[in-house]
Amino acid sequence: MTINDYKFAGKKAIVRVDFNVPLNGEGVITDDTRIRGALPTLKKIIADGGAAIIMSHMGKPKGKVDMKKSLGQIREAVEKALGCPVSFAPDCAKAADAAAELKMGEALLLENLRFYPEEEGKPVGIDKEDPAYEEAKKAMKASQKEFAKTLASYADCYVMDAFGTAHRKHASTAVIADYFDADNKMLGYLMEKEVAAVDAVLGDIKRPFVAIMGGSKVSSKIGIIQNLLGKVDKLILCGGMTYTFAKAHGGEIGASIVELDKLDVALDVEKVAKENGVELVLGVDSVCCTGYDFGTFSVKPGAEIKVFPSNAIEEGWDGLDAGPESRQKFADAIKGAKTILWNGPAGCFECDDFTAGSKAIGDAIAEATAEGAFSLIGGGDSVACCTKFGLTDKVSYISTGGGALLEAIEGKVLPGVAAIKG
Ligand code: 3PG
Repeated sequence: MTINDYKFAGKKAIVRVDFNVPLNGEGVITDDTRIRGALPTLKKIIADGGAAIIMSHMGKPKGKVDMKKSLGQIREAVEKALGCPVSFAPDCAKAADAAAELKMGEALLLENLRFYPEEEGKPVGIDKEDPAYEEAKKAMKASQKEFAKTLASYADCYVMDAFGTAHRKHASTAVIADYFDADNKMLGYLMEKEVAAVDAVLGDIKRPFVAIMGGSKVSSKIGIIQNLLGKVDKLILCGGMTYTFAKAHGGEIGASIVELDKLDVALDVEKVAKENGVELVLGVDSVCCTGYDFGTFSVKPGAEIKVFPSNAIEEGWDGLDAGPESRQKFADAIKGAKTILWNGPAGCFECDDFTAGSKAIGDAIAEATAEGAFSLIGGGDSVACCTKFGLTDKVSYISTGGGALLEAIEGKVLPGVAAIKG
């Protein structure tokens, strides 16, 4: 079934969205991209004369109630964005009455699914090495099915529209689909759009294909980096990863972030890039600081800022952004690209002193896009960069997915898609 063909009039649809939005200390949403992303699907259900039961996770409460991660905090924002009454069910597994009372043309937001360990389906409080673990896992899988069945019982149909979470095989993203027949389950508009954007990058690759991978750690990106080495023409690696590569060649990196157990991995990436004819672009200089507060994203009073070669950073200095030569190198590599993928910033962009690297990348992508490239941006930080630099309308597609986008680009079948399409 497709969302366009389904007749929602008089029906209750349970919709999995990804409302895992960033909140500030006061519980105010700081980036509502994901809420806006789900609106076309939710509005369609309401406009057709149906009712929407909205479910999501927020953060990683690990199966326990944590009011700092309560979706109750965003009910009002969802109501405002959706433009219809949105009530709140404070316990997602005990919402049968609220669902039954829900009127057509209205919505009901369920409390954070991950307050229940059944959502993720992993046993809690027992170590993987424990001999009883396998039994606990079996028992948890059975209760996960029950949990999914309960959620399914609230509605007539199921819509999966949580692209950001589609790489998780959880009760609400995959297992629940077993309780609906093929005519009553479907992907939402956001899922359709995201899957099409990934296809646009991977389907018929227009070359040169340039990927920019940033962020702090090689370890968290190595799967996608290895995969991209078989697809791209140029691969820019920036952000904190720079220093693991510099260290692997015996460079001095001062107090910069490094993964000493990944030096071999870095050298191997360089080797494979060479074998595959991929131009690997690494930063050559860095904007460094003697005192940065990662908690408040600010330079500590009295701390200094200076540019060093990325492989000759003095002791006590921390590389926090790409230097001017690196920025030029990145911009040159992006120029003329026809397909672009960007995930992960080039520096601590949250602080104005260290935005230049990410801005240079964003600007170069916007320029290439204006000249006909297809550019896909994903991951919370890169999306935040685009917002900060006013580039959201100057790139082709901004994904709501982080891990999900990377897994889709790796060519993995996302469980949230498989649950609907088989
Ligand atoms: C995300 O923020 O990438 C999604 O909401 C998925 O969250 P997760 O990594 O906690 O499953």
